[in-house]
Amino acid sequence: MTKTATITLITGANRGMGLEIAEELAQKGQQVILGSRDLQKGQAAQKQLAAANISVDVLQLDVTDPTSVRQAAAAITNKYGYLSILINNAGAVFDAQKKPSEILQSALRADFDLNYFGLIDVTQQLLPLLKKTPQAKIINISSMMGSITNALNPKSEVYRASAVGYQSSKAALNMYTVQLAKELQQAGLPITVNAIDPGMVATEFGGVTPDQAKAMGAKPVDFGVAQTVALATDPDNQSTATFTNTHGPVAW
Ligand SMILES: NC(=O)c1ccc[n+]([C@@H]2O[C@H](COP(=O)([O-])OP(=O)(O)OC[C@H]3O[C@@H](n4cnc5c(N)ncnc54)[C@H](OP(=O)(O)O)[C@@H]3O)[C@@H](O)[C@H]2O)c1
Repeated sequence: MTKTATITLITGANRGMGLEIAEELAQKGQQVILGSRDLQKGQAAQKQLAAANISVDVLQLDVTDPTSVRQAAAAITNKYGYLSILINNAGAVFDAQKKPSEILQSALRADFDLNYFGLIDVTQQLLPLLKKTPQAKIINISSMMGSITNALNPKSEVYRASAVGYQSSKAALNMYTVQLAKELQQAGLPITVNAIDPGMVATEFGGVTPDQAKAMGAKPVDFGVAQTVALATDPDNQSTATFTNTHGPVAW
């Protein structure tokens, strides 16, 4: 491993958009580490890529398990000594179609444990490694579902959506993105922090099959990851504290 290699960790990379991002970034020459909460599923994904001559590393990483997060950070420290890009992709919805007046505390907490607290734990544990590279990136996979502006806009495709726990956790993630970006910028550290909305994408997200999602109008996975791949491969990204999709800026 040369010191100039781009080392990229993707959480929740055993399937869906995480796996597609891994494939595309590895094909573009990055040393990709698949984070997978179930190591066997991660290894199966690694094998699938190897069959197409794409080589990636794999690590057990459950973002809601503090021990797993610390072991993954230690493993990257020992093997690589630094990290160039962290893609916080792991995410799920635990309260789809539930009314805000009836939503269970347990569902709200599950949304926040994964999409907010877990993501922040991973980010904080990996920051020391991101600080060891001349230019690093943190890319947070958010969602237009977390946009309060769009939730209030009757013309928005998410106006009628109801998953207040998931939506709140992504809105909170957006605020974390902005505040961390500002802190790192003010400290003069060359680490950008940005949030991305992939759009509605045909994965197993929300417990449907990709075909069912397609039938509901979801876009192909390669479309969903395009903005993330563009940012991850930008050789001189200076933008920080942004929220974008493939069409440009998304309203917070
Ligand atoms: N699909 C969409 O329409 C859409 C739209 C907007 C935003 N997003 C966001 O895009 C990201 C990727 O979603 P996707 O569509 O690719 O969904 P997906 O196919 O359901 O994949 C989600 C990934 O997250 C992993 N994960 C779940 N809990 C985890 C945990 N505790 N620790 C580590 N990994 C965990 C899953 O692992 P397992 O296989 O072990 O469950 C899986 O690898 C998410 O953050 C989601 O909120 C998706």
